[in-house]
Amino acid sequence: MSPDARQLIAQHARTTQLLGVDFLPLGTAPQGLSTQQAAGEIEPKSTPQPSNPLPDAATPPDAGELNRMAAVPLAELRAQSDAISDAQARLDALRARYEQDAPHQHFNTSFTNIVFGEGAADADLMFVGEAPGEQEDQTGRPFVGRAGQLLEKMIVAMGYSRESVYICNVLKTRPPNNATPTSEEARLCAPYLLEQIRIIEPKVIVTLGLPASHLLLGTTSPMRSLRGRWHAFPPPSSSGGIISDQDLDAYPSIEVMATYHPAYLLRSYTEENRRKVWSDLQMVMEKLKGV
Ligand code: URA
Repeated sequence: MSPDARQLIAQHARTTQLLGVDFLPLGTAPQGLSTQQAAGEIEPKSTPQPSNPLPDAATPPDAGELNRMAAVPLAELRAQSDAISDAQARLDALRARYEQDAPHQHFNTSFTNIVFGEGAADADLMFVGEAPGEQEDQTGRPFVGRAGQLLEKMIVAMGYSRESVYICNVLKTRPPNNATPTSEEARLCAPYLLEQIRIIEPKVIVTLGLPASHLLLGTTSPMRSLRGRWHAFPPPSSSGGIISDQDLDAYPSIEVMATYHPAYLLRSYTEENRRKVWSDLQMVMEKLKGV
């Protein structure tokens, strides 16, 4: 069994057994595996291996070449680790700036903790929700309540861990009675979210629900017409985007997938809705394959 297949099966087993995932629509399995394979009932077909995948043993690389081979990954690793520390430092500074600016003072909010966002500063995948709820407000962490638990199941089903992605919200403080953020509240908090995106530079952003989708995509279209297809971030201001056209170059180009908010999914936990969300997430998995 190839390491990839083993990883997929282990992932699926972890998803379905340990977390008791009932999120996946019936009869679906992680990409690349049949449902039976995913359930461990049959071995996946082994991928034919090249007859000699190793370099020719008759001509071993000389010491100088070995040193060069070893030096490149090490230098790359160092550069990566420096880049991650740098991104984390910039996120910390941004959080401090948010706390100082306190854009939430301009709207109605009663909160205990600021919920700025958490995860990998170099994440390929970023999830943007709406606003903290009660448990997020209590803990200062995004998506830790019921909707958050469902989001985590989705992340694991996609083959990622919560720690390997970045999760944040449009608003960083809890709205009274969990009210949906107004477009004015979203606009006031947008600069901090946009800067989070600029620092992390994810390959894909998944917007969860309408407030995040509308803000980042510069649209007011309903979710049924937004989900299931790719969008480009940043959108031009002429199409309703919040970034002025002369500032667009300062932002990385990122693919965005809009999908239903997990809280909506919990309220409407139908096979059809689960299938739609899973299909959106599979498009994301496909996009991130090999990144
Ligand atoms: N809903 C959100 O949109 N964000 C959270 O952090 C929690 C619930």
